[in-house]
Amino acid sequence: MGSVEIMAFPLVIVVAVAENGVIGKDNGLTWRMPSDLKRFRRITMGKPLIMGRKTFQSVGRPLPGREIVVITRDEGFTAEGVHIAHSPKEAVAKAKALAKAMGADEIIIAGGGAIYTAFLPCASRIDLTRVHASIDGDAIFPSPAQEEWRETAREEHAAGPGDDHAFTLITLSRTSKSP
Ligand SMILES: NC(=O)c1ccc[n+]([C@@H]2O[C@H](COP(=O)([O-])OP(=O)(O)OC[C@H]3O[C@@H](n4cnc5c(N)ncnc54)[C@H](OP(=O)(O)O)[C@@H]3O)[C@@H](O)[C@H]2O)c1
Repeated sequence: MGSVEIMAFPLVIVVAVAENGVIGKDNGLTWRMPSDLKRFRRITMGKPLIMGRKTFQSVGRPLPGREIVVITRDEGFTAEGVHIAHSPKEAVAKAKALAKAMGADEIIIAGGGAIYTAFLPCASRIDLTRVHASIDGDAIFPSPAQEEWRETAREEHAAGPGDDHAFTLITLSRTSKSP
């Protein structure tokens, strides 16, 4: 038809955060939450994921059914079965091409702390699992500015089988463009 296809791919942050903002310690998760891992799998399946080199190394492998773009400043970094980018901008360009090829409608920002901080200003939605515990850790989720986000869904959950803690699923949607 000769029409130009303009495809926007929202950036969606998926994160599990303790009450005190902690998301990890010693480059790993500090809780066992199989319910949340299942939710992560469900939300991310069939989509491109952008993650920091440290988080990728903690995950340790490509994830079935998803494409991972790993961000690193190390020009020599290689890993099998994933895509490499050296800046957030390059990561988004690669993830957009992957989303288009996969038929996905959004791009997942999968952490960790440095990557959440870099992408929070341009994310459209945050799918947040609030883990009901205060945890000792060294990786922190940046606080979303209250005036830029509104809660659009909330579900309370008791700890499921094997979960260390009860949790609340919270969806935050952007109300405004970032400054
Ligand atoms: N609870 C959750 O939902 C969740 C989710 C994901 C991760 N985590 C946790 O988060 C922690 C890891 O977070 P983190 O902040 O330490 O590391 P990270 O965000 O996973 O990775 C940081 C690395 O990304 C690269 N990077 C960051 N900004 C960049 C930029 N602007 N341009 C190019 N490369 C860039 C650098 O890699 P190089 O050093 O190679 O240059 C940097 O060292 C772990 O404990 C993990 O378990 C928790």
